[in-house]
Amino acid sequence: MSNSGFDPTKLEAWNALKRHREALADTHMRTLFRDDPGRSERMTLEVGDLALDFSRNIASDETVVLLARLARDAGLEERRDAMFGGGHINLTEDRAVLHTALRSAPGDAFQDDGEDCTADVHAVLERMAGFVERVRIGAHTGWTGRPVEAVVNIGIGGSDLGIVMATRALEPYRHERLRVYTVSNIDGTDLADTLAVVDPETTLFVICSKTFTTLETLTNAQAARRWFVGHAGEAAVARHFVAASTNHEAMDEFGIDPANRFGFWDWVGGRYSLWSAVGLTIALAVGMDHFRALLAGARAMDRHFLEADPAANLPVVLAGLAVWYNNFFGAQTQAVLPYDNRLSRLPAYLQQLQMESNGKRVRCDGAPVTADTGTIIWGEAGSNAQHSFYQLLHQGTRLVPVDFIAPINGSGINQGQQDLALANCFAQAQALLNGQTGEEVRQDLAARGLPRAEIDRLTPHKIHPGNRPSNLILFPRLDPHTLGALLALYEHKVFVEGVIWGINSFDQWGVELGKKLASDLAGAVSEPAHAGAVDPATARLLGYVQRWRDA
Ligand code: F6P
Repeated sequence: MSNSGFDPTKLEAWNALKRHREALADTHMRTLFRDDPGRSERMTLEVGDLALDFSRNIASDETVVLLARLARDAGLEERRDAMFGGGHINLTEDRAVLHTALRSAPGDAFQDDGEDCTADVHAVLERMAGFVERVRIGAHTGWTGRPVEAVVNIGIGGSDLGIVMATRALEPYRHERLRVYTVSNIDGTDLADTLAVVDPETTLFVICSKTFTTLETLTNAQAARRWFVGHAGEAAVARHFVAASTNHEAMDEFGIDPANRFGFWDWVGGRYSLWSAVGLTIALAVGMDHFRALLAGARAMDRHFLEADPAANLPVVLAGLAVWYNNFFGAQTQAVLPYDNRLSRLPAYLQQLQMESNGKRVRCDGAPVTADTGTIIWGEAGSNAQHSFYQLLHQGTRLVPVDFIAPINGSGINQGQQDLALANCFAQAQALLNGQTGEEVRQDLAARGLPRAEIDRLTPHKIHPGNRPSNLILFPRLDPHTLGALLALYEHKVFVEGVIWGINSFDQWGVELGKKLASDLAGAVSEPAHAGAVDPATARLLGYVQRWRDA
């Protein structure tokens, strides 16, 4: 399973793709569409309520076949089956990768080290359901007997981003009495701003941390606890603090009532954990039925990923195209552009999912990779993005493949406004594809009566080269089921990329060094005058701390 010696660049499919890229070098997407009007129909895949239109890519049917072959030859089926089968594919942590078990249907077979996990998963879901129901109907009250009105999730990374993203996305499903807040950053402002607007009598804190050792989360949780105890006293902590973690002892130490501890397992990676007890805040906000619909949507995508032929498999196609631009066009980044403001935190969620998973420089066997990995993901909700950085997408010198994501029906109060959002989304995809030639620009300017010299001067500035790739991911509306399918689509996309690059997508050693150095430096920052020996670059920074502290 370590894939020893595997090098994707040695695969025949890789070399075929290199040749194929050269053959497509002078092909403009305009030509591809002109010669093949049925292209969009053929290059659209649907799974349930999710449609992926990937026709606006510098790709032909042959490209798709070659990319699918690349994935297959890299061991896609074997590694996929190992993941679903509980194999320890997270080699450096010697762990199974079974987040798909979290969205299993009762009776689905998932095993970790020969032990059934499905029953454990469903037992936790049942306990979550009971707690969620009690909070939502007002039966779980605060220390003065008032029902919960604010849920404050304290967590970071995978114990925060999914919660922020999903509770925003599913705002129309939120219980009207329950407001959700999330606290993650360590500097204290996040917590201060939240505590300023919640009432200790009606606030439920959810401490969310797989390890329950994360500095940011524990610092914020302890500070929230002190604030709370200052109002309500120690005895009330158990009613107001609940937790999701794999670390039962630490939850105990914090004072979490055993009845309000929601566990999960080390085979759930942090960035793959929103389906577990980590999703408690989401479930509190939208209710357990909707949370289960989110899981069901993800499971539908899991089934598709398992069953569909690679060339007609959404995650495989999406991953193949990402590899295509990353490794054969030299594109370093990819933009995610949702045309629904409720998905405004999706890019941040996908950043962790994709960059923490695939930002790796060695293969599974420890040898250096021979091809670039880990596309840089960035993005912003549609119209805001248009009025900020689309200039570079259209006329910059870099190629930035784009995923547009849009519901057809808006969840705001006015469908007319969503229609305008869609018109903008489709127009951007059109502009990226077709661009505007010099001839078209000249005609346009001439029609506006500009003199010849002015036309000559302006034309180069107004040319849009086009031939810039985009995928469109469309769905009827942003509901829990669709959101689940969408997130699982990206999870499996990340997995397939990792298979192709031969890397371990499930560890994250790159975040450890900085954490260790921060804890070494904590004393020096708080008392710079007594700092021991540090490197000259850091010493200079500590000098500023000393000079400007309390300035
Ligand atoms: O520092 C990175 C990380 O380990 C992420 O992988 C994880 O999602 C996050 O920290 C939070 O970890 P925990 O849930 O254990 O607090």
